[in-house]
This record gives sequence, structure tokens and C-alpha cells, in this order.
Amino acid sequence: MERKKGTSLLMNILHEEQDKHGYISEQTLKKISVDEGIPISRLFGVVKFYTMFHTEPQGKYVVEICGSPSCVLNNGVQLEKFLEKEIGVRIGETSKDGMFSLYKTSCIGCCNEAPAMLINGMPYTKMTVGRLQLLLKKLRAASKKKKK
Ligand code: FES
Repeated sequence: MERKKGTSLLMNILHEEQDKHGYISEQTLKKISVDEGIPISRLFGVVKFYTMFHTEPQGKYVVEICGSPSCVLNNGVQLEKFLEKEIGVRIGETSKDGMFSLYKTSCIGCCNEAPAMLINGMPYTKMTVGRLQLLLKKLRAASKKKKK
């Protein structure tokens, strides 16, 4: 008989695994399935449903631009287009240099400071193309320093 795990326990397990590696591999899902007695199909269903889970390696910086109304109506689309051009990827992709993964997310609760986005889970609000240019420049420079 299938043992049903509580959703919150499963979410905790998945978050822990993603925090360790930046994504949840198929191999990891198989291990969780065996260890926890959860059908693999259920695990795949959960990680594919929630956009916060990734099943492929991610860029060093995961950029999630808010695609909900307050942000979209406050130049969010312009920022999205700028990001796609600047990073060289489309929504849902990771740059070839492994620096950035770009996603669209639903409201992150910063509507009064729209447009907003998350970078590695940190909120950035009242964004403009100019602020975004500076931020990307800083992130690239910080990454180069760490490599030296
Ligand atoms: S609509 Fe973008 S943060 Fe709420």
C-alpha cells in the first residue's frame, strides 16, 4: 500500500535537496522516491508544478522577474526584454557562461514597489533598465573577482 507523505514534509525534502545542489536531479528524485516511499510520478508532478524547483543545473544567479499585473504595468515587460537581450537567453533558459538563469515568477509581494524581481531569492524593487544594468555589471564583476 502506498504510504502518503504530507505535502509539507515533501516540500521540505525537495527544498533541502535543491538548496544543496541548486537543482533536483532525476537521480535525486529516484533516491527520494525509494527513501520516502513516494511514487516517482508524484515527485515529478510536484517539481514540475512548482516553478521554484529546478530539475536542471542553474546559473550562478537565478533571476526571477515578476510577471504579475503591478509589475507588468510598471515597465516589467521592458525589463524582461532588456534581461533577455543582456543575458542572451529567453525566459526559462540559462546563459552559456553559467552566470544567469532567467525566469518569470508570479507576484512576490512587492507590488507597491513595482517592478520587482528576485535574484537568488533576494528581492530587488523599483527596478529600471539603468539599475538593472548596474546590478548585472556588479554581479559579473563580483563573479570575476571570485575566480581569481
Ligand atoms: S505584482 Fe510584482 S510584486 Fe506583486
